[in-house]
Amino acid sequence: MLRAPGWKQLTTLVILGMAVLFTGCSRDSGPASDTAGAATPAEAARSTPRVVVNDKAIADETRVSDWLAYGGTHYERRYSLLQDIDTANVAGLAPDWYLDLPRDVGLVSTPLVVDGVMYFTGTMNVVRAVDAVTGELKWEYDPEVGQALAGKRSVGFVHNRGISFYEGKVFAATFDGRLIAIDAGTGEAIWSTRTFPKDSALYITGAPKAFKGKVLIGNGGTESGPSRGFVTAYDADTGEEAWKFYIVPGNPADGFENDAMAMAAGTWRGEWWRHGGGGNAWHGFTYDPDLDVLYIGTGNGSPWNRRVRSPGGGDNLFLCSIVALDPDTGEYVWHYQTTPGETWDYNSNMDIVLADLEIDGKTLKAILHAPKNGFFYVIDRTTGKLVSAEPFADVTWATHVDTETGRPVEAEGVRYADGTAFITPGPWGAHSWHAMSYNPGTGLAYIPALHMTFGFNDQDIDHASFQSVAFQGGLGVNLVWTDDQPRPYPASLIAWDPVRQEKAWEIPQDSFWSSGTLTTAGQLVFQGRADGKLLAYDARSGEVLWTFDAGLGISAPPITYSLGGRQYVAVLVGFGGGYSALGGAGAASHGWAYRRQMRRLIAFSLDGGADVPAQPAPLAPQPVKAPEFVVDETLAAEGAVLYDLGKYDGQCRYCHGFAVMSGGAAPDLRASTVVLDRESFTRVVRDGTLTANGMPGFEELTERELESIRHYIRQQAEAGLASQD
Ligand code: HEC
Repeated sequence: MLRAPGWKQLTTLVILGMAVLFTGCSRDSGPASDTAGAATPAEAARSTPRVVVNDKAIADETRVSDWLAYGGTHYERRYSLLQDIDTANVAGLAPDWYLDLPRDVGLVSTPLVVDGVMYFTGTMNVVRAVDAVTGELKWEYDPEVGQALAGKRSVGFVHNRGISFYEGKVFAATFDGRLIAIDAGTGEAIWSTRTFPKDSALYITGAPKAFKGKVLIGNGGTESGPSRGFVTAYDADTGEEAWKFYIVPGNPADGFENDAMAMAAGTWRGEWWRHGGGGNAWHGFTYDPDLDVLYIGTGNGSPWNRRVRSPGGGDNLFLCSIVALDPDTGEYVWHYQTTPGETWDYNSNMDIVLADLEIDGKTLKAILHAPKNGFFYVIDRTTGKLVSAEPFADVTWATHVDTETGRPVEAEGVRYADGTAFITPGPWGAHSWHAMSYNPGTGLAYIPALHMTFGFNDQDIDHASFQSVAFQGGLGVNLVWTDDQPRPYPASLIAWDPVRQEKAWEIPQDSFWSSGTLTTAGQLVFQGRADGKLLAYDARSGEVLWTFDAGLGISAPPITYSLGGRQYVAVLVGFGGGYSALGGAGAASHGWAYRRQMRRLIAFSLDGGADVPAQPAPLAPQPVKAPEFVVDETLAAEGAVLYDLGKYDGQCRYCHGFAVMSGGAAPDLRASTVVLDRESFTRVVRDGTLTANGMPGFEELTERELESIRHYIRQQAEAGLASQD
């Protein structure tokens, strides 16, 4: 069987799926001006009438000069009516301009374009505004996340998926939990508010969602400790809290916040509140401008194993659901749960796409949703009722979804009660946060799909006494790798027909963790891949029409816009997200090393003539030889626990990679000479001398603990060296 390099290492993952990045937009000036008549795109762009970015503008699918919201518009389709670039001429697409981002690492965000200015977030939540025609930097806003992460804030990986724009402000949410409104013209902060207390084991990697004068944000943290998910909406002008919605019920003794929580509590057993319950909404938020409803995609359980979390069963509302809320008050309207009683990390945080489908001669106001569990859902958004659900990838946990009851029919033994159960999809999901797009012209949705089987068991776990700990986490289940994988390839691009609920075409991919998709009226689909290629496909057939080698893995989804009569396609290049941090040898095998290849933003056009400098060749990290360092196996064993699990908030693996194999999010410590010198190591790791660069200080670590981590790193380096002999 053909396998992506290092595929096996996916095994070892313990935590998944969240990424980091995001983007914003705006610009200062701009009296609406008349015409351009300009010769150059730059001049023409400057004369573009100033857009007031309100709900009307964000809902306008015909506005091709901008990319106003995360998913393009409020409909979240990532579809553009632009067709200057089409199937006939896309082969001539070339870089038009580029911006090097030497201080960035993982890039996963969707840029926004407003009035000729592109806004985006990079590593460490730095927000930038650049001229969308020339690539010239206009301003940069640095929320100094490195400082904010000191001490107990160091869990996770510092990427971000996007920003939001509304009436002259860019909204950015930081990893450490701040929501910040930035003046789009000047790049200065207008207000900033904490969305959770500083010492919570939570983090934000997602884009806020601006709608109706408010800004919504959730958080991740399901795996970081006992966590009770919630979303909060703030007034866009003042930053005052407008409303808050908890996703799972708290302790009944404290009273329920609302009727929805009282209802949900009936679906939980035991003392679930001791575990938080989870449901964290870290990604998919959609505002429906037609029906004036807000939809949130909710997360899996905290901890993962239902026997621990809710002994005795139950659906555990509102885990793994789409929950519809009143946008003005945050009151519950309806919910649809994709995975009742979830126990495999099948969260429903994936994008929530709005489409009008013709079914049986009627127009259905539909939600399209392809969550981790492998089914493609078409939901009637006026009622929240399931219309249809079919598997878009291999699915073994359920035989089908019953459209009468709206519930999945689970296969036997999938709840791993009697030993290891091998289940597809595994916890990375059949689809993660990488954006799905929908093209009303072809009637197809384009899904970046993942194919993986994992084993689950919990036999050595005492369900009654299990308790996850803040900043250390704990899943309540063990994951087991198997070589018996569902397909000869780990990923594919799938074009899915939501009306017929069947695949139109599929392109297998050798590399895991490719970017989200963009689709256009030019009958094109664009997607970046983990192997560094950006491709354009014929949206009808999947035929590859254009390939650009960026020389560095692409995790961020491309966007398109038109200025001065020129259509651009833009994308951030920089391998990022959960898999880049935790993918072990699989992620490391690409050779996208920390600060080796230049992270950059590239805009393409048919007239492009920019000479993008070639990237240094991929380099698999080379462990440094140090025969004088004699590894003490006892210390190394202690160090392994600290490195991989963290005593306080260690979890070095979140950035430096599982088993000290880096996917590029941070230096590969097997190759570090700092590790060889005790004093230098202490200065960096305990005293935090590199905090500003994203390396938090771990002041709690004792001398022995520091020493043991050093020995563990060297043990892994020796193992790496030995495997090369
Ligand atoms: C939030 C992400 C993150 C976490 C968690 C993290 N690191 Fe780092 N670390 C970094 C980054 C980024 C750098 C590179 C900083 C720079 O470019 O100056 C770094 C640099 C280092 C270096 C210096 C490497 C060199 O050769 O210059 C050492 C040693 C190190 N980290 C050890 C650790 C240890 C041990 C842990 C766990 C206790 C840890 N790190 C946790 C992100 C992280």
